[in-house]
Amino acid sequence: MRDQDIEYVINLIRDNSGVVLTKEKIYLIETRFYPLMVKYKKNKIHEFIDFVRTSGNDALKREVIDSLMTNETMFFRNSKPFEDFKDKILPYLLEQRQNTKKIRIWCAGCSSGQEPYSLAMILHEHKHLMQGWNVSIVATDISHGILEKAKSGKFTQFEVQRGLPITSLVKYFDKSDNNWVIKDEIKDYVTFQYFNLLDDPVLFGGFDIVFCRNVIIYFSLEDKKRVLEGFKKVLKSDGFLILGGSETTLGITESFSHSDITRNIYVMAKSA
Ligand SMILES: C[S@@+](CC[C@H](N)C(=O)[O-])C[C@H]1O[C@@H](n2cnc3c(N)ncnc32)[C@H](O)[C@@H]1O
Repeated sequence: MRDQDIEYVINLIRDNSGVVLTKEKIYLIETRFYPLMVKYKKNKIHEFIDFVRTSGNDALKREVIDSLMTNETMFFRNSKPFEDFKDKILPYLLEQRQNTKKIRIWCAGCSSGQEPYSLAMILHEHKHLMQGWNVSIVATDISHGILEKAKSGKFTQFEVQRGLPITSLVKYFDKSDNNWVIKDEIKDYVTFQYFNLLDDPVLFGGFDIVFCRNVIIYFSLEDKKRVLEGFKKVLKSDGFLILGGSETTLGITESFSHSDITRNIYVMAKSA
């Protein structure tokens, strides 16, 4: 690939999604673009990139961005945050939100849905404690393709073998041909929608919990700060922010501090 093409792609992805492509990802550009080259009948990679650069076609740019996202996910990924959600955060909120009987969770960068559906399964197991409550999960992602998959609630055998206890598979999924489809009783907790984390989330309004795991790890320091400041705007003053295992707010913003629950769970800093 020509240097100017690589640079164009790196800038396009960073400016539109925040994601800074790693060296390994740069090697993958050609492979990831191949289906789009076939779709748009371009034989050479430089022809395709020129086409993207000059077409002014936003839908095409979105397809290009989608093709380079890292969508790796699994059910109950790194189980600890889910245990903390079940054993500590949920009991706290059930006590503190007695007046409103409302809990809102935002799962930001939800990929194909395993993370919000894992949370929904936990909520469902506690439904006897939430009679008359309004408990919902808003799950967002920048990739339209992955959101379509998430909304379908359809998972392959391989996907359900990753992290999902067999008892939950049997209880909450129906077999359909070679796939497994999540039941409506779980699906109904989750609303999927497009949202770019570089945008201002203020209109989303009041969340009790924000899960944003393994997303900002790929962002520049400046964009990490922008996203975290966005979470501050939409989190209730006693809400929780849950980041991925190798992500932190430290050195990026003083708006959050460690909760006394676990390393990757943050609360609003007293001075914020
Ligand atoms: C590695 S997956 C993480 C999925 C899930 N949170 C987990 O930990 O298993 C990262 C997701 O972030 C999404 N993403 C990347 N940049 C984004 C942005 N600017 N706004 C919203 N989602 C973004 C990607 O499309 C991808 O689905």
